[in-house]
Amino acid sequence: MRDYRVQPAHRVLGAIRVPGDKSISHRSLMLSALADGLSEVTGFLASEDCLATLNAMRALGVRIEQPSATHVLIHGVGLHGLQAAAHALDMGNAGTAMRLSTGLLAAQPFSSRLVGDASLMKRPMERVAKPLREMGADVRTHDGKPPVDIVGGRRLHGIDYAMPVASAQVKSAVLLAGLYADGPTHVTAPAISRDHSERMLLSCGVRVVTEGLRTTVYPPQGLASQRLDVPGDFSSAAFFIVAGLLGAANEGLLIQNVGMNPTRTGLLDILRSMGGDIRIENARESGAEPVADLRVHKSALQGVNVPPALVPLAIDEFPVLFVAAACAEGETLITGAEELRVKESDRIAAMSAGFRTLEVPHEVLPDGMRIQGRPGAAFGGGEIDSEGDHRVAMSFAVASLRAESALLIRDVANVATSFPGFLESARAVGLNLTESP
Ligand code: S3P
Repeated sequence: MRDYRVQPAHRVLGAIRVPGDKSISHRSLMLSALADGLSEVTGFLASEDCLATLNAMRALGVRIEQPSATHVLIHGVGLHGLQAAAHALDMGNAGTAMRLSTGLLAAQPFSSRLVGDASLMKRPMERVAKPLREMGADVRTHDGKPPVDIVGGRRLHGIDYAMPVASAQVKSAVLLAGLYADGPTHVTAPAISRDHSERMLLSCGVRVVTEGLRTTVYPPQGLASQRLDVPGDFSSAAFFIVAGLLGAANEGLLIQNVGMNPTRTGLLDILRSMGGDIRIENARESGAEPVADLRVHKSALQGVNVPPALVPLAIDEFPVLFVAAACAEGETLITGAEELRVKESDRIAAMSAGFRTLEVPHEVLPDGMRIQGRPGAAFGGGEIDSEGDHRVAMSFAVASLRAESALLIRDVANVATSFPGFLESARAVGLNLTESP
């Protein structure tokens, strides 16, 4: 088992770039596979999660070249060109790979089986299976969980689906299946969630209409190939945003080329409402996605009540927000975030266990946490179990900026699922981190 040994650090400084966006990288492979002709993706996130999607697309008969880790050439097979895989598709730790692929494969003439690692095999899949069945697909789960078996050869029809949770993965799975339906497919969400699928489908020439919380996809004749430069992942930048607020020296910590899609940047709104000094520089467009550099200055944070409407816009950032809240003056209340319980770990439980080690006063709620911040107090050291969750591991590494003794963060290998090179980036800006064995 891999662990981080983290010594207290007192400041961060310099400039870094975070790796490519995970959500966009998964989608770039899937849509390029279905396109007509050659697509070229640069800035690709060569993490274990995205490589699971890459291998799945190869197993489905798509030729993919990777001249370098972040440069991918996809020879699209067209909307109807995928072929049956010779074996079950292993999606590793990647919920996005499994849920989006379920939508894609529900409409194929052949059958497929999707499996994953121990964490993914425990995650809920009925949320995608149910709407796909309404479309006419034959999708089978086991007690609601993987393996997911998809029986091929079904004709799909457009539906009008009201999603019970604000999940971009469910929305995307239905939209992907909708590419093959006999009419338009509508998805209505209870709140806004990330819209990378909609943006990329539009770039590939598919008619997608978003009106408020309702998205409609019209089945296309085909998809156009794309040239795409994937922006840096806001969710990876989040660890350094909080690190900068806790300990940036001098002219601040600069994080370059960060994806700024407004459906992803809820953490910025929350941290700014806490008093965080985060400046946006060099704002620009990269294809269908906004991008900017972020300059973060050390700030005295105040506790806040996080508006539940911001939860889906910051859904992957709560572990590191909890750390920021523990360093803020007064109480922070997070509610409406029960989805955190079904991520790569139960993130409310995993963060609470770590907080007990660090002696952070907090109360666990069914759908969030109440955290008593103590800006003047240093965290104790000790041993923390990341529960195999990449974001929990990286969040506690950031907490070392307020620790007074060493932390041992257990089970960190899965950091490679989203952020290859985290250790090097963290060390480069001043965190005192080593990995063992
Ligand atoms: C993702 C959507 C979110 C997010 C996940 C990536 C995506 O999941 O937590 O890391 O790429 O669509 P949900 O759709 O389950 O909220």
